[in-house]
Amino acid sequence: MKFNTYIEEVPVYIPGVTAEELAKSHGFSGDEIVKLSSNENPLGPSPLAINAIKKEASSGHIYPDNSYKMLKEKIAEKTGVRAENIAVGNGSSEIFLFLSLVFLNDNSTLVTSRHTFQLYRISGKIVGADVRLVPMKDYRYDLEAIKNSIDGNVRAVYICNPNNPTGTYLSHEEVREFLDSVPDDVIIVFDEAYYEYVTAEDYPVTTDFIDRGNVVIIRTFSKIYGIAGLRLGYAITSPEIVEKFEHVRFPFNVSRVAQAAGIASLDDEEHVLRSRSSNERNRVRMYKKFEELGVKYLPSQGNFVYVQTHEKGIEIFNRLLEYGVIVRPLDAFGLPEGIRVTVGDDYQTHRFLEAFEKVL
Ligand SMILES: Cc1ncc(COP(=O)(O)O)c(C=O)c1O
Repeated sequence: MKFNTYIEEVPVYIPGVTAEELAKSHGFSGDEIVKLSSNENPLGPSPLAINAIKKEASSGHIYPDNSYKMLKEKIAEKTGVRAENIAVGNGSSEIFLFLSLVFLNDNSTLVTSRHTFQLYRISGKIVGADVRLVPMKDYRYDLEAIKNSIDGNVRAVYICNPNNPTGTYLSHEEVREFLDSVPDDVIIVFDEAYYEYVTAEDYPVTTDFIDRGNVVIIRTFSKIYGIAGLRLGYAITSPEIVEKFEHVRFPFNVSRVAQAAGIASLDDEEHVLRSRSSNERNRVRMYKKFEELGVKYLPSQGNFVYVQTHEKGIEIFNRLLEYGVIVRPLDAFGLPEGIRVTVGDDYQTHRFLEAFEKVL
């Protein structure tokens, strides 16, 4: 067999342990397990989305609308841009593949941070691109170092804001200055998967920057909208880039059910507010307990908290499994002395904190 040899270098994405796996390995029943490893919304999908999903089921034999007109119009209305600025994907992950196919090849470089979401480096390597990982500064993206790493080979920079797994963020001013300082033929991608959870007032309004032509904003329905299982994400960018994506995507890449659920989710502002306030309440509960225990953590703008463990995070992870609690060890993120814990609902947070105190 004649495989593409560079495929060997593409790391295989390893998702967190599933509740089913833990139930099987440790003999728990499914509802005893508290899964805080994938930054899912503990409140689940919006009731409006669930209704839309049920309603759409009977049209399952009909192909989806391949123009995504209604969904794009709804996203545009909610984000204050035009429908021609929107592209949608089978999860925001698929849009990273579009970016690779449109901008990268085996003769180009992608720059991102050393301690960030794995998918960026995977998506670059899939097309044989060189992936340059820039160290962080105080657990934040070091924009100065990133700027200095941009040479003639660099075609794209990926910035996760707020960053998974550290929860740290870059401000509007920092982002604006950075955009002013980079060559305008380098594409700058802001992954805002956790956008709806952010409370910082100086968080960037990146939609202000899309007319520059080299900015792509990525958002997802997998986090606050609670439909990770349906796979839906979108990009906000220039019409030129949206059109380029059309050349590399397969038809019908977003299902009817995902489209209907996405539209209904955007209409349910109450569900978003409920999810935000549950997140803020339980994030603060976690901070308080960590402080009480003398455990270091990073204040987070997302629905997860980075906790410094002072021993291998994998050890804490394994001991928490004994209590039916799944968190994320961070070896794959280059942070072996930490864990990432999704902010659960009130009950899950209680279960996590109780178990965490015992395993320390
Ligand atoms: C920063 C970041 N971007 C993107 C995603 C993937 O989202 P999707 O489910 O839309 O592919 C995640 C999921 O964990 C994430 O943390």
